Amino acid sequence: MFLEGNMNKQTVIKIESLSKSFHVGIQDVPVLRGITLDISSSDFTIIYGPSGCGKSTLLHTILGLEKPTSGSIKFFGVDLYSADLNEDDRSELRKKSIGMVYQQPNWIKSLTVIENVAFPLSLIGVPKVTRLEAAKKELEKLGMISWSNYKPSELSSGQQQKVALARALITDPQIIIADEPTGNLDYESGLELMNVLAELNLVDRKTILMVTHDLEYLRYTKSSIHMLNGEIVKDDNSVMSYKRKYIEK
Ligand SMILES: Nc1ncnc2c1ncn2[C@@H]1O[C@H](COP(=O)(O)OP(=O)(O)O)[C@@H](O)[C@H]1O
Ligand SMILES: [Mg+2]
Repeated sequence: MFLEGNMNKQTVIKIESLSKSFHVGIQDVPVLRGITLDISSSDFTIIYGPSGCGKSTLLHTILGLEKPTSGSIKFFGVDLYSADLNEDDRSELRKKSIGMVYQQPNWIKSLTVIENVAFPLSLIGVPKVTRLEAAKKELEKLGMISWSNYKPSELSSGQQQKVALARALITDPQIIIADEPTGNLDYESGLELMNVLAELNLVDRKTILMVTHDLEYLRYTKSSIHMLNGEIVKDDNSVMSYKRKYIEK
């Protein structure tokens, strides 16, 4: 089930020596400590590590929402935080290329499932008929079409995550970024969502970057990245030496 395809590989996200500290009171708290990472097109990358190790902060920097303290992120070759780009430019890049899925989907409660899925297209001025047609296609693809006219709150958590994925896909982004998308799901629904993600990667060749603290999902991909305390620790050996270094401190 793994995708080998080296053909036409292109680096879509290039992260170099990325560090991020937060000011808390008079203290500088380092959260990311020199992350270097390449994500290529059609990769299915899972970043895993314990709660609080900096996974979401890393995703926020990639999304253009959190300026790093040092280091750089190139997004399709464009330096995301260079002085030439402002918030709007970053938001534009994000809207064009990334579909986001969170642990907890954020619904517009007054809208139906299909209207919620269509919503991102209304932000870029797509006429109503066209965007509902597109939403229908995405819902069909994810096996959720029969729920179109329900309110999202009437669906189970697993069903809601599939609808959230349909909404993330509606703009046909090249990249899907998912922050603990299975975090609220029971075991079966979690696996079901993982299978959908794997299929999007294999069949539609979407680049997927997913964060989890559940080791169960590592078997879905060969490129898993272990994060601990704001750093990437690459393999079991380096995890051990890292732990030693950390315990000795
Ligand atoms: N805006 C912020 N201000 C201060 N500290 C933050 C902020 N965002 C995250 N942190 C801290 O950074 C650390 C990593 O958080 P996070 O990236 O959310 O971890 P993870 O997603 O791996 O659970 C945590 O200790 C968290 O409290
Ligand atoms: Mg998190």
